[in-house]
Amino acid sequence: MIEFLNVSKVFPGKTSSIHALNNVSFHIKPNVIHGIIGLSGAGKSTLIRIINQLERHDQGEVSVFGYNDVKRLNKESTRMLRRKIGMIFQSFNLLESKTVKENILFPLRATRTIHEKDHLLALKLIEDVGLKGYENQYPSQLSGGQKQRVGIARALINDPKILLCDEPTSALDPLTTKSILSLIKTIKSERNLTVVIVTHDMHVIKEICDEVTVMHYGAAVEVGRVDDILFQPKHVVTKELVHLIGFNVEDIASQFKDLPNLTVLKFPKPLTNEKILSDIMQSFDVSFNILFANISPNTEGLMLVSMEGNDIALAKQALIEKGVVMINDRL
Ligand SMILES: Nc1ncnc2c1ncn2[C@@H]1O[C@H](COP(=O)(O)OP(=O)(O)OP(=O)(O)O)[C@@H](O)[C@H]1O
Ligand SMILES: [Mg+2]
Repeated sequence: MIEFLNVSKVFPGKTSSIHALNNVSFHIKPNVIHGIIGLSGAGKSTLIRIINQLERHDQGEVSVFGYNDVKRLNKESTRMLRRKIGMIFQSFNLLESKTVKENILFPLRATRTIHEKDHLLALKLIEDVGLKGYENQYPSQLSGGQKQRVGIARALINDPKILLCDEPTSALDPLTTKSILSLIKTIKSERNLTVVIVTHDMHVIKEICDEVTVMHYGAAVEVGRVDDILFQPKHVVTKELVHLIGFNVEDIASQFKDLPNLTVLKFPKPLTNEKILSDIMQSFDVSFNILFANISPNTEGLMLVSMEGNDIALAKQALIEKGVVMINDRL
């Protein structure tokens, strides 16, 4: 869906040039939420702005929707590309003098005349993002979370296939962040979107991303499934970012490495884990020693356990049948 191949970008600086991207290669699968994480100045924004050609790369190729290199598209094709890619920003980028509905219609007005059906679509989007009744309000009358909801509705007006999010929750409090991330997740599923989300916060990655790329000084230093990266971060920066959210199962597991059958369990629904464990304890006469749990409402639960008993193999099989994923080979 989106592929970066040896992509580099240099900005001219006052004294020396800035290598914002350095030979970046990785791809983003369709219909996933792919996080781009890294410290300030790592090149995250430059990277996603290349996807819709708000920024042009100097070297390498970027394929989007099967176009081999988006840099080589002519003006009209670039316009078409941008229409299929929605974008939201940390600072919302709303027009203060325009109402919620007019902000949402703005990308259409910029290209053509607005019809009645466009007004209806805008109202439907306002409802979808949870702002019914707010259509005639102005941005100054809205909270940060509400402004980002307008940003999301505006990004959807052209029915895009890709949604780019540049630090969409960095200006929001933790609870509002959760609600916006949950909205992005819902919209992604309902519309079959591919979402690329830039953040410096591993909480955001853990909360909604399927896959993640870690950027450091313009390089993509680690790419993989979020579970893998959380459980076994390899690069020093990834380790630091994971450590910052107090999540280092490797460290925790190493304290217990002498215990038998050390296993990480990932539960499909956090609120069912106790029932699953107690059922299996009874059926197979095994005991679970829970050493660490990282479980919160509305996210998948992770648990480090040591198992003892005679029928461990059968108990593991039963766990898998209940939808529990075992991540034991990574410790
Ligand atoms: N238009 C520009 N002109 C000159 N330098 C730029 C420009 N845009 C970005 N840079 C530089 O390129 C590097 C990467 O910037 P970028 O904005 O992509 O980083 P980032 O990871 O998004 O950082 P942040 O987390 O602070 O948003 C930085 O050193 C930045 O100063
Ligand atoms: Mg940035």
